[in-house]
Amino acid sequence: MREAVELIQARSPLHPKVGLVLGSGLGAFANSLERSVRIPYREIPGLPTSTAIGHAGELVIGSLGANGKAIDVAVMSGRFHLYEGYTPQQVVSGVRLFKALGIQRLVLTNAAGGIDVSYGRGALVLISDHINLQGVNPLTGPNDDSLGPRFPDMTEAYSSRLRALAASTGNELGITLREGVYAGLLGPCYETPAEIRFLKAIGADLVGMSTVAESIAANHMKMEVLGISCVTNLAAGLSGEKLDQNEVLEIGRQVSGTFLKLLNALLPRLNDL
Ligand code: HPA
Repeated sequence: MREAVELIQARSPLHPKVGLVLGSGLGAFANSLERSVRIPYREIPGLPTSTAIGHAGELVIGSLGANGKAIDVAVMSGRFHLYEGYTPQQVVSGVRLFKALGIQRLVLTNAAGGIDVSYGRGALVLISDHINLQGVNPLTGPNDDSLGPRFPDMTEAYSSRLRALAASTGNELGITLREGVYAGLLGPCYETPAEIRFLKAIGADLVGMSTVAESIAANHMKMEVLGISCVTNLAAGLSGEKLDQNEVLEIGRQVSGTFLKLLNALLPRLNDL
């Protein structure tokens, strides 16, 4: 990890405190940064290479906002998924790198299926909590005590103060933000309608195939986490239509304008906490 930090610091003089992981179809944000340096994951020691469609696979360090009031951010444009065959530890390698770079607050974004039918397609939802149904955990194996404790607390896996800040920012901008519980599954197939009924019964409002491992690793390292889902479709069996990855990516792109507006206002506030 030290080698990776040295490489990044040799390429960019910026010192981000806020890190962002961009989900499917939400990659546009990274293009809006100034003074940006892009480093493909394959060039970074300790990171695997990214393969999923819709995921670029590079770390972008850049600056956001007008001169004088600009803040530095680190962006993972593309993430590692368990369904691609990465180990849970590989999946969280980017978040661990963020921590080593000095990042304190982490924004995890994703595309998700809506189990709560009152979420419209394209709705942005603040993740209030998660249910880990991926069958694995990135913290199994010997614990690295220098990162965090053996049995980390997960009572506030998604920081309530970051959520409140996001909600008020959304309010000011006229962007509706809902709240919900995210169920993280292994994938890669979408769920069956019976699985969605099960997820609803156990208290999930959203379903996806990412985020929970990253959130666990971040909480282990005492980073504050904000999770934002973009609802790209109603979950299986709720709409009468079949699920299609192209539609997931398309809806992600359609909301990217709103999403950008939200992030542009929110990230400086997260930085200044
Ligand atoms: N299920 C799981 N993951 C998803 C979905 C879904 O319906 N939509 C976008 N990612």
